[in-house]
Amino acid sequence: MGDGSFQITFIMPDGSRRVVHAAAGEDALSGHGRPGSLLDIALSQGIEIEHACGGVCACGTCHVIVRRGADSCSPPAEEEEDCLDEAYGVTPQSRLACQCVPDGTEDLEVEVPAWNRNLARERGG
Ligand code: FES
Repeated sequence: MGDGSFQITFIMPDGSRRVVHAAAGEDALSGHGRPGSLLDIALSQGIEIEHACGGVCACGTCHVIVRRGADSCSPPAEEEEDCLDEAYGVTPQSRLACQCVPDGTEDLEVEVPAWNRNLARERGG
């Protein structure tokens, strides 16, 4: 490491693992959430995470659980914490994927909770 590149393992709702490679400090990749956020990185690599509000910290549907590497992530702002308060199944490691920006000093393991998928289903009809 040291060149700012790192790896994120997404644990999907069905238990499968998707490993992506990312570089810290990149410009917006997918146009969703903060540039370089977990949501931004995931969507740019074809990994679906719910993002009903488009990544502006208003819906809570992009809730993920950062199992490993949380220390390298931007600390949650007050509005993120307020939004998470409303989210379902919140844990101490919960973050909003659209607001959580890793700095690239550690590899991450990020769980996409099953209720994320269920919400997507319901909304999609
Ligand atoms: Fe809505 Fe993150 S996408 S809060």
